[in-house]
Amino acid sequence: MTHSAARPTLASQFDAFHAARARSGLVNHLYATAMGEAYPPEVADSSSCDWPLLGLMTSRLRMRPGQLLVDAGCGTGGTGLWLARALSARLVGIDLSPVAIEQAGARRAAFLPNGRATFRVASLDDTGLPDSCAHGIVCVDSLGFASNRRDAVRELGRVLAPGGRLLLTRALRQSAEPAWVEEASSAGLTVEHVAERPHEPAMWERLYRLWIDHADHLRRELGDPQAENMLREARNKLPSLPGRRAVLLTLRRPPEQTTPPSPTDTMTGLGRHPAATPTTSERTPQ
Ligand SMILES: C[S@@+](CC[C@H](N)C(=O)[O-])C[C@H]1O[C@@H](n2cnc3c(N)ncnc32)[C@H](O)[C@@H]1O
Repeated sequence: MTHSAARPTLASQFDAFHAARARSGLVNHLYATAMGEAYPPEVADSSSCDWPLLGLMTSRLRMRPGQLLVDAGCGTGGTGLWLARALSARLVGIDLSPVAIEQAGARRAAFLPNGRATFRVASLDDTGLPDSCAHGIVCVDSLGFASNRRDAVRELGRVLAPGGRLLLTRALRQSAEPAWVEEASSAGLTVEHVAERPHEPAMWERLYRLWIDHADHLRRELGDPQAENMLREARNKLPSLPGRRAVLLTLRRPPEQTTPPSPTDTMTGLGRHPAATPTTSERTPQ
């Protein structure tokens, strides 16, 4: 076996994380402690998804009942399931990790009636979803793991229906020039809104310090390899948190243009074929 073949893939690393987390309540307990009252217990994500973020996403998606929401990089599914229930939407969740997808499927019945949600293994840059099928897409703390962010945004843009919105959490250094305007335009999307999340870095700082303070407990509960992965992440990320800027981006696929009828159409064409032209609301889903 070559060295590179022996290296764990991103999917197998996340499989190990999600499997270990399911074996012990300790990780959830530490997330809940770090977030305090902002922790949404039913969602129980492995991300910065707190009550303020759920509120922001609920209001920015602007979806109608029955439309399709995609949770891209859904992990164990809590964010997408919670939002789909709140918005009366249908849901498809995709994630690289088969273990996460299995756990998400097992949580489905607690949130939504049968048939309203499906979860499948797929990657952000190759979702396997049809063109223009989704009126909303959320991608919480997952885009940073994509091998090429621009390809992933382009793929998610392809899946978005005209007028639909893609919500992405992003983080960068406070002094850095954001790349998202360029990434959005290469996917045919516009940046509709940028919401700052000033409390996000402090949450990660509290969480990482809790992981370090509970290192022995994590090793006992999760086993050495998984605990060491988390402790390495905590030590690597802590120094960069003071200069971190976190945002929720809303990217939008422009609604389809409705061409105003020419005077000739008004007098003849439309008058002769009133059923031939769909109404504005049929052509421009919001
Ligand atoms: C930090 S977790 C966040 C999960 C979930 N969004 C949440 O809020 O709990 C990142 C997730 O992204 C998934 N992921 C990473 N890279 C991916 C990719 N290229 N395509 C699909 N999923 C990916 C991982 O398997 C993991 O479950």
